[in-house]
Amino acid sequence: MAKRLAYVNGAMVPESEAKVSIFDRGFTLGDGVFDTARTFNGRPFKLREHLERLYDSLRYVQIDPGLSPEEMERISLEVLEANRPLLGPNEDYWITQQVSRGLALKGPATVVIRCEPIPFAEFAKFYKTGYRLIVVSTRREPPQCLDPKAKTISRLNLVLAELEAKMVDPEARSLMLDLEGNVTEGQGYNLFMLKDRVLVTPGSRSVLKGISRATIFELAADIGIEVVESDFQLFDVLNADEVFLSQTSRCLQPVSVVNNTRIGKTVPGPITNQLLRLWSDKVGVDIVE
Ligand SMILES: Cc1ncc(COP(=O)(O)O)c(C=O)c1O
Repeated sequence: MAKRLAYVNGAMVPESEAKVSIFDRGFTLGDGVFDTARTFNGRPFKLREHLERLYDSLRYVQIDPGLSPEEMERISLEVLEANRPLLGPNEDYWITQQVSRGLALKGPATVVIRCEPIPFAEFAKFYKTGYRLIVVSTRREPPQCLDPKAKTISRLNLVLAELEAKMVDPEARSLMLDLEGNVTEGQGYNLFMLKDRVLVTPGSRSVLKGISRATIFELAADIGIEVVESDFQLFDVLNADEVFLSQTSRCLQPVSVVNNTRIGKTVPGPITNQLLRLWSDKVGVDIVE
């Protein structure tokens, strides 16, 4: 049976035989960055935007991947092409570029590019039911310590938050505040709330600039909904008309409950639904189905 291939430091190898040193700083120190795009019907979506974000993260942490953005794009597409025949019907891939500093402070960097089928079955039902979010005690690390705009390999700040939420409710996701008590994001997603037909999302000071978040800005403009980047608090989320999250694998998914409070009149709300339909039309895939 054909095996999925991955790119590891200049070579295409079967995924199961791919190796990185146990002394790699990505493993020993979480010293690296990554990015993940996805496909729709096997075609990459906004790969270039994801790679721009990857190179912004690389510049911030001072890692030279030894590849130009154009080379990184070309190899990412080669990995996708090599693995495309293994995509089943209604399947799509995550495409991930992972870059660590390598074995020493001065590199050379370790570069891995791989594909992975998106596990749609794990989250499909939340398009209908919405997520339950729990505001956790772990705060999103502030930009004075490590800028959340960088997509770093170490996700421990986010993982600890997620463990806290799942301790209370195994299906819930964590929602993190910043040190001042403003709403930020959770592991893997950005948050939006709708109030009086205006969408509000935290500014990029305290969150990753999600590529899906940027897509929501575009889709909202198409339907005449204003998007505002602003600080807001839990109080505002609890009183919102609709709340949803945005994330590469899921595009956008509704939120039904925050802590113990039901959000909005219906889940998904009408604007959440409209944005999902519009996104589906844009990529030619019924996202919810
Ligand atoms: C902390 C965090 N916020 C937001 C997102 C959503 O970003 P994107 O829409 O690019 O997937 C992610 C994605 O992994 C993330 O890790």
